Parts: sequence; C-alpha cells; structure tokens
Amino acid sequence: MLRTDGDPELRVFDPAIRFLHWLTLFLIAAVFVLAVSIDFASSKAEAAAFVQLHRSFGICVWFVTLGRLVWRQFSRFPNWPADMPELMRFAAHWSEYALYALLLSQPILGLLHTNAHGDRLNLFFLGDLPAVIGRNRQLAKVLLEAHETVGLLLFGLIALHASAALYHHFWRRDDTLRAMLPLGRVRRASIRYPNGIVRILLRLPWLATVIVRQCPVLNFPA
Ligand code: HEM
Ligand code: HEM
Repeated sequence: MLRTDGDPELRVFDPAIRFLHWLTLFLIAAVFVLAVSIDFASSKAEAAAFVQLHRSFGICVWFVTLGRLVWRQFSRFPNWPADMPELMRFAAHWSEYALYALLLSQPILGLLHTNAHGDRLNLFFLGDLPAVIGRNRQLAKVLLEAHETVGLLLFGLIALHASAALYHHFWRRDDTLRAMLPLGRVRRASIRYPNGIVRILLRLPWLATVIVRQCPVLNFPA
C-alpha cells in the first residue's frame, strides 16, 4: 500500500478513493438488506425481485472493487498516525487486503451459484446476462454454502473494520476516520500518475492537435 512517508501535509484520501469507499458501503448495505428481505417477501414475485436486485447490486460491488483496486495504484494514501503501533498497522494493512479479497470473491461465488442453479442474473430488470457455467445442482449447493460462509466472514470483517475506525476516532482521537470522511479537504494533490500509459493518454488531446496542424490533408482551407 502506498503510504506517503515523509509527506505529513497529505491528511486525507483523494476524492475518488473516498467516493468509492462510501459507495461500496452503500452497495454492501443494499446487498445484505436485500439478502435478508428475500425470506420476508410477501409473495413469490416479490422474493424473485429481491433476489434479482440482490444479484444486481452484488455484481456492482465486484466492478466498484475492481475500480478501487485500479485507482489505488495512482493514488497516494495519507500516513497512519505517527503513534500507531507496528502491530496495528500490520492488522490494518492486511485486513484491508482481506476485505478486497472477499469483495472480489463473493460476487463471483454468487454468480456461479446462480448459473449452476439454472438461473440468470437479470441486471436491474434490464435483461439476463449470459450464463458463465452450465446447470449443475450439486455444484450449486456447494457454491451456495460457500456464498453464505463468505457472506458471514465479510459481515464480521466489516464490523471489525468499522469498529476499528470508530476506536481511532473516539478513543485514540486521531485523524484516521477524518481522512476517509466524504467532506475531508485534500491539502495537496494526492494523485500520482505513473510514467507509462496514463501519461501518454493524458497527452493524447495535445498530440491530436499537433497532428491536425502539421498534416496538410487535414488542414481545411480557412
Ligand atoms: C458482495 C456481494 C454479495 C454479498 C455480500 C452477498 C451476500 C449474500 C447473503 C448474506 C446471502 C444470504 C444467504 C443465506 O440465506 O443465508 C446471499 C444469498 C444469495 N446470493 Fe448473494 N451476495 C453477494 C453477491 C451476489 C451475487 C453477485 C449474486 C448472483 C449474481 C448472488 C446470488 C445470491 C443468491 C442466488 C442467493 C440465495 C438467495 C435465496 O434464494 O435465498 N449474490 N448472498
Ligand atoms: C462495506 C463496508 C466497508 C468496506 C468494504 C470497507 C473497505 C475499506 C478498504 C478496502 C479500505 C482501504 C482503503 C482503500 O483501499 O480504499 C478502507 C479504509 C477505511 N475505512 Fe472502510 N470499509 C467499509 C466500511 C467502513 C465504515 C463503516 C467505516 C467507518 C465507520 C470505515 C472507515 C474506514 C477508514 C477510516 C479507512 C482508512 C483506514 C486507513 O487509514 O488505513 N469503513 N475501508
């Protein structure tokens, strides 16, 4: 994880990191509420709608998580508080990676279970996505058990993670939570573009202008 050692002025995560973090919380909350609501539905049609919404929000979690992992590569993270013990840093670091692993694997388990059960994911009632595997009832059972177990693990880890954030804020009274809050101000540009592909992409508009100006075929008479 990129922590900006030697840059004490960087106090908060960049806006994209914060937006994607709280968007994930919203999506995960929807996914869990919908999973629980399935059992309380008043009709079969309502239960089916909850299942499809659960699947749709669940698959969004996968894409948002992928986006976070990509964006992280270009972002600089603020330092942990100077007085944070090594063991606590270690726990924070690895629990965040564990969260990423669960956030990526859970939607895949759900999708595989759905297809193995002979169903399709109907994305927000817009249409069915193609099945990634064929029907296999035995496999569907195993995948559902795995989906339930990972669901529990994810729930537990999120509870621990949120408790740790509150512990930092109210007991240790440091800036850990403030750094992730939606309205935190960025004191310094916190995005570091890599030398390679992104730099080239950012220069494409300038390159296009140069080509148009230099190429006589593209120069229309004034
Ligand atoms: C991060 C994303 C997800 C989380 C946290 C999650 C969590 C859960 C939980 C907690 C349950 C209830 C299990 C139980 O009844 O004990 C469940 C059920 C289920 N999930 Fe997911 N899920 C996610 C994504 C998905 C996706 C993407 C799909 C399919 C495309 C999916 C398909 C299902 C299905 C079919 C069930 C069984 C529903 C039923 O008939 O009771 N899930 N999920
Ligand atoms: C769905 C629920 C949540 C998930 C999946 C989640 C996941 C993560 C991940 C992966 C990070 C690492 C930073 C990054 O890569 O963006 C992070 C950081 C953080 N999260 Fe969460 N989070 C959740 C909910 C919460 C809640 C409810 C709180 C507050 C009560 C919270 C507070 C924080 C804080 C303060 C950090 C920065 C920690 C640090 O400096 O390392 N998160 N979260």
